[in-house]
Amino acid sequence: MVEPTEKEIVLSEHDFIISKTDTKGKITYGNQSFIYYSGYREDEILGKPHNIIRHPDMPRSVFRLMWQTLQKGEEFFGYVKNLRKDGGYYWTFANVTPSYDPNGQLIGYYSVRRKPEPDRLTLFAELYQQMVAMEKKFNSSKAAMDASFRLLEDTLGEISYHEFTAAN
Ligand SMILES: Cc1cc2nc3c(=O)[nH]c(=O)nc-3n(C[C@H](O)[C@H](O)[C@H](O)COP(=O)(O)O)c2cc1C
Repeated sequence: MVEPTEKEIVLSEHDFIISKTDTKGKITYGNQSFIYYSGYREDEILGKPHNIIRHPDMPRSVFRLMWQTLQKGEEFFGYVKNLRKDGGYYWTFANVTPSYDPNGQLIGYYSVRRKPEPDRLTLFAELYQQMVAMEKKFNSSKAAMDASFRLLEDTLGEISYHEFTAAN
């Protein structure tokens, strides 16, 4: 168990953190930036579930939306706070897409992350705190995730999370 700390690492403008997974979300590839920011060695992450870098400050409903989007064959954009091996964290703006073989068969997923836009990061960091609190209050049930996701939608108003993040 990694104990989260308040130590933040800020992504460089030039870095793209890339990882690939199989269809179950197990890591099959991580680039040098992935290794650097996560703080893990390559042999420690290959074959591991991607939640190895899951930060407890991330709402469950955001990951539910991510998987629902991918399962529809669509791409997902989102703000994701990740947990480093040393307990520190780094914020990313992620784009996750399904990968197919030449026969159109799903073979896994691909994620590219870059430095988030500061104003939006402030918005999501605060909103995610409220969402996590809401999920805890309702014991992380499905109803909790629904309520937490409604909070996200209500805050963004007319625009969906997808429209808001994809436009970034
Ligand atoms: C290609 C790909 C990239 C992912 N990247 C991350 C990531 O950077 N951080 C993260 O916490 N989860 C990421 N996930 C989602 C995890 O698989 C998992 O759903 C999430 O960490 C929630 O874990 P939990 O269900 O155990 O709470 C990614 C999934 C895929 C398919």
